[in-house]
Amino acid sequence: MENSFLHIEQSLNLKGEVTLVGAKNAVLVIMASMLLTSGKSRLSNVPASSDVLQMIKLLEQLGALVAFDQDAHVLEIDTTPVNKFCVSSEIMKKMRASILVMGPLLARFGRADIAQPGGCVIGTRPIDYHLKNFVKMGVIIEQSGEFLNARCDAMQPKKLVLEYPSVGATENLMMAATLTRGTTQIINAALEPEVLDLVVVLQKMGAKISILPPATIQIEGVEDLHSVEHSIIPDRLEAGALLLAAAITGGEISIPDAPAYALDVFLYKLEEMGHFIEVGANGVGVKLRATKNPKAVSFKTGPFPGFPTDLQAPMMAAQCLAEGTSVIEETVFENRFLHVRELQKMGAQITVEHNKATVKGVESLYGAQVIATDIRGSCALVLAAMVAKGATTMTAIHHGKHAYESLEKKLASIGARITTGVLVENHVHDSIKILEQEYGVQR
Ligand code: EPZ
Repeated sequence: MENSFLHIEQSLNLKGEVTLVGAKNAVLVIMASMLLTSGKSRLSNVPASSDVLQMIKLLEQLGALVAFDQDAHVLEIDTTPVNKFCVSSEIMKKMRASILVMGPLLARFGRADIAQPGGCVIGTRPIDYHLKNFVKMGVIIEQSGEFLNARCDAMQPKKLVLEYPSVGATENLMMAATLTRGTTQIINAALEPEVLDLVVVLQKMGAKISILPPATIQIEGVEDLHSVEHSIIPDRLEAGALLLAAAITGGEISIPDAPAYALDVFLYKLEEMGHFIEVGANGVGVKLRATKNPKAVSFKTGPFPGFPTDLQAPMMAAQCLAEGTSVIEETVFENRFLHVRELQKMGAQITVEHNKATVKGVESLYGAQVIATDIRGSCALVLAAMVAKGATTMTAIHHGKHAYESLEKKLASIGARITTGVLVENHVHDSIKILEQEYGVQR
C-alpha cells in the first residue's frame, strides 16, 4: 500500500535460520510461459509478491483461469480458455515483466497487442532487443499510440544476435522460438539462473532447447507444448539480502535452501569483507558468521555469473560501515543509485560520479525518515536501518512488495525490530506517534 511504512529500530546480532521463497525473476516469466500451452499447469514455491498477483491479473485478462493458494505457495493456471492477446496499458505500466507475454502470444496466436511497458526509476529500460529480433523472425509490428500491435502468421527460425545479454529479450525470443518450426539460435544469450529455470520448464513442456558454449541457446521448434508441474527455484536475491542482514548486524544466519551455486561472486565478496561463509553440499545451503571488523570491498555489477545488479544496493549498505573505501560500478542500469541519497540521510559517506559510487566507511549510521525508491533500494535502507543508532521510518514500502514476499517478517524472525504501519495524514512523524500509542513501539 502506498501509505504504509516500516518502522525499524536498531537490531544487532541477527541470528537464526530462514528459508527462501521462489525467485521473483523466475516465477513471472514462467507464469507468462504458460500461455504457450493449452491446459492446466501447477507451480509450487510461488511467492505471494505484488508482481505475482499482478501477473495473475494479466493472465486472467487474457482468459486464463488461475487459482493461487498463497499459504501453500501453489499456483494453478489453466490456459485452455485463453482467447485474447491484448494486454491493457494499465497492467503493462504497473509491471515491466508484462512484456514477457509477447513471445508466448505470438507463438500461440500469431498476435500480440501490448502497450509499451515504459521505463522505471532505475532506467529507461527499452525493449528494442526484443522488437528488432521479433521483426527478424518475421513479425510485423505497428505502433498505434502507446500500443504495439504485433502480427505474424508463421514465425521464421533465425540466428538472433543480442548485442547485450538481455534477460528479458533472451526469455521472450526463446519462448517464441519453441513453437517456431526449424532451428533458432540466440547468440550472446543471458544465462541467469532464472533464465535456466525457464529453460527447465519449457523442456518439461516438450520444448527442444540446448545451451551451447559460450552463451548460445538453440531451440528446435515443435508442433505444440503441454502443461507442466514445476517448483520455482529459491530466490538467490532474497538469499543475498538475508545474508547481508546477518553480515551488517554482526550476527549469523543459516539458509539451507540458498542456491550458493548462483551466488559465487557475491559470496566471494562477502568473504573478502572478512565474513565467514560455509556452503552446503552440491552448492545448496549457505551459513554466514559475520566478522566484527568488516573490510570495505569494491565491486562491479554485470551479467551472470558476474556480481548481480539486484544485489548492488543491499551490498552498498554493507559498505557504509566497513573499514576503508569501496568503489561500486553499476554497469547494467543507468540510474540505479537512487538509494544513495536516502543512505546519506542516515549518515553514509557516499559520492557518485556517472555509474560509479564511492563509499567511505563511517563509525555509525543514524536512524532517519527515508523513502524507498525501488525494490532493491528499499532492501538497502532496511539493512542500514537495522544497524543505525535510533529509529528509522521508511515510507513508500510498496516498492519492496514487488520483490520480497515478506522480507520484514523473515528479518523479525531472526531478531530484527521491524514493524509496519499505515500513514494517516501522510506525515511520517504522526505515524511515529501512532506507533507509540497504538503499537507500543518504544523509540
Ligand atoms: C531482468 O530485467 C530482471 N527482471 C531485473 O530484475 C534484473 O535486474 C535484470 O534482468 C538484469 O539481471 C525480471 O526478470 C522481471 P535486461 P530485464 O533486459 O530483463 C538494457 C529486480 O530488481 N536493454 O537484462 O528488463 C536495459 O535497459 C529487477 O528484480 C536494452 O537496452 O533486464 C538494461 O540497461 C530489476 N534493450 C540492460 O539492457 C532491450 O531491449 C539489462 O536489461 C532490453 C534491455
